[in-house]
Amino acid sequence: MCLGLFILFCYFIFTNATHFNGGTIGWAPVNPYDNSTSVKITITQSYSWTYPYIKCASNVPISTSGWSGANTNLTCVVDCSTDGGYSSAPINILTDCTSSSSSLKMMTSEKSKNVTLSAGAHFYLAYRGSAWVGLNDPAQQGLDWSIITYIDLRKRSDGFINTSPVAKFVSPQYAIVNKTIQINIPVSDVNAGDDVRCRWSTYTSGYRRRRRSNDEDRVEDFIDGTSIIPMSSVPVQFLIYVQSQPVCSTEPIIIPPDRCLEVQVGISISFNLSAMNLCNPSVATLTDILVSSGITSMTHGNLTQSSTNSSIYYMTFTWTPQTNQVGSQQLCTTAYTR
Ligand SMILES: *[C@@H]1O[C@H](CO)[C@@H](O)[C@H](O)[C@H]1NC(C)=O
Ligand SMILES: *[C@@H]1O[C@H](CO)[C@@H](O)[C@H](O)[C@H]1NC(C)=O
Ligand SMILES: *[C@@H]1O[C@H](CO)[C@@H](O)[C@H](O)[C@H]1NC(C)=O
Ligand SMILES: *[C@@H]1O[C@H](CO)[C@@H](O)[C@H](O)[C@H]1NC(C)=O
Ligand SMILES: *[C@@H]1O[C@H](CO)[C@@H](O)[C@H](O)[C@H]1NC(C)=O
Ligand SMILES: *[C@@H]1O[C@H](CO)[C@@H](O)[C@H](O)[C@H]1NC(C)=O
Ligand SMILES: *[C@@H]1O[C@H](CO)[C@@H](O)[C@H](O)[C@H]1NC(C)=O
Repeated sequence: MCLGLFILFCYFIFTNATHFNGGTIGWAPVNPYDNSTSVKITITQSYSWTYPYIKCASNVPISTSGWSGANTNLTCVVDCSTDGGYSSAPINILTDCTSSSSSLKMMTSEKSKNVTLSAGAHFYLAYRGSAWVGLNDPAQQGLDWSIITYIDLRKRSDGFINTSPVAKFVSPQYAIVNKTIQINIPVSDVNAGDDVRCRWSTYTSGYRRRRRSNDEDRVEDFIDGTSIIPMSSVPVQFLIYVQSQPVCSTEPIIIPPDRCLEVQVGISISFNLSAMNLCNPSVATLTDILVSSGITSMTHGNLTQSSTNSSIYYMTFTWTPQTNQVGSQQLCTTAYTR
């Protein structure tokens, strides 16, 4: 059995930021064909934080000292009369650290939790807080923020319960004054054939709109290419940090493995992913290679400078694919220089 390994590359330039950097909330029914009166769903919260200000540990963020009061529940904000009983047994926002980078001051955390709701529930669920980092356009401090996801357990017209699309991204994203950037947000949907679209968020009835240069993008799935009614709506909230023109703005390049990787279930594989700094090393150095969309159980070592060419850095990835990973898997990495 062979797997194709797709490696998607992004690259960008870096500086720094504050504590909560955004995130996304997705959901999936445990059994999409469930006909019973109560349906179990898995809600997955993924957040991005400033590291090591927030520690890489279990139960982020309350495991960081001084943050013990930061736990809260995801709350229903709209259509709560049809929340299927969610509000009587809500889940909290605690997640577990999944990766961290000291050079990029970034940490990501994720956790999946099950909830049982009555069949046909449909409502908007939000993580709300008030400590969004200060923004510059226009200058704002202490803004409220919320990440809202739309859950709809009513059967789709094709007979089963929908699963929300999944987005993977890195926050913050860095932009340079007067330079066009392209922000890639890899999205996927387990419901084959669904049309997945992204849009900038707009006003949600009953909820205040807030858009600065923290950007909220929404990823929605539609039953086909012509439908205009999304079956679910997943928030993607990230920060865009605009920096002045760096001395060297040439992006580093990621050098993929020099051969096609053929991987077998149960057999461990190691490969190097290298990045080359195209700037004069006295002006900018490569600071890290970040995995923005990883593969379950794939691990990697530290960024290491090549002993033969000081512009080249590499990271060794190790993975033993499992039977349930047969098919294509996507690995997305970003190389940063500073
Ligand atoms: C649920 O109902 C549909 C339609 O009545 C049926 O096709 C399907 O097999 C049922 N699913 C289960 C798990 O019983
Ligand atoms: C969160 O929900 C749980 C029940 O699931 C409840 O015990 C707890 O008090 C709630 N926390 C807050 C901050 O509302
Ligand atoms: C959710 O429930 C399913 C089925 O009972 C179980 O396999 C899964 O491990 C549970 N997930 C969590 C995060 O508890
Ligand atoms: C950006 O472009 C504008 C318009 O061309 C120009 O006025 C401004 O000086 C530029 N800013 C920088 C930092 O290059
Ligand atoms: C990665 O590169 C280093 C340095 O060139 C080398 O020593 C190591 O064997 C490589 N690892 C793999 C798995 O190719
Ligand atoms: C990676 O770097 C960390 C921090 O510098 C260090 O503790 C760890 O041992 C390193 N890991 C490897 C495999 O070299
Ligand atoms: C590093 O490798 C690149 C590409 O092979 C080459 O262009 C560059 O001159 C090398 N740099 C050094 C310091 O050897």
